[in-house]
Amino acid sequence: MAKITIAIDGYSSTGKSTIAKQLAKALGYVYVDTGAMYRAVTLFAMRNGFIGGQNDNIGALVKLLPRIKLKFVYNETLGYAEIYLNGENVEREIRTLEVSKYVSRIAEVEEVRHMLVDIQKDMGMEKGIVMDGRDIGTVVFPNAELKIFMTASPEKRAYRRYKELLDKKEEVTYEDVLANVENRDRIDSNREFSPLKRADDAILFDNSDMGLKEQFERMYNHALRIIEKQ
Ligand code: DC
Repeated sequence: MAKITIAIDGYSSTGKSTIAKQLAKALGYVYVDTGAMYRAVTLFAMRNGFIGGQNDNIGALVKLLPRIKLKFVYNETLGYAEIYLNGENVEREIRTLEVSKYVSRIAEVEEVRHMLVDIQKDMGMEKGIVMDGRDIGTVVFPNAELKIFMTASPEKRAYRRYKELLDKKEEVTYEDVLANVENRDRIDSNREFSPLKRADDAILFDNSDMGLKEQFERMYNHALRIIEKQ
């Protein structure tokens, strides 16, 4: 059966990755979480004092970009690939609210976007891929056979994220998480390079009041219909 490319974009904490992972598993496709790549570069910038301290030094980060090596390694037990930054598994560390605070600023940097988009395009050369992010249907794979744009109310998204962070024993308040979600929406949608926007041919998917099972079934059926036509 012919393989297709599936691009899933949308606002933060809409559950893109959960559904993308399920879809990839059901189709036997590779799943790539591009947010993890922006987060790993952010962690690198934080560890080296380029962001998060008194003064940002994006120029120094840009010079060191060639030293950042990212890799995804499939974890059999978890059923998805984890991200490695220069050989270290940083899957857990990149998900903290601290990294979430700075990631939009790093994702605005043109050189960072160029570097990551090139890697992402390479990963999708052979199709059979589900990639999620903010610019997958518009920039990375403008010819993807299936494009989905996910959205939900900021309050619903913040609540889901808040529960996730509590489960991970992070000490956060709902108000902080909501402020972070709204702030990221604003920066992601207004940045100069590859702002978050729905591709004209993307299916709009508002999951404010939709359970996981229903979301998966709808998307899976969309995918099957397109695959059958190939
Ligand atoms: O999906 P996420 O919340 O883990 O993404 C983290 C940040 O990275 C998000 O605020 C926007 C940015 N991002 C981006 O600009 N482009 C992508 N393709 C993926 C993520």
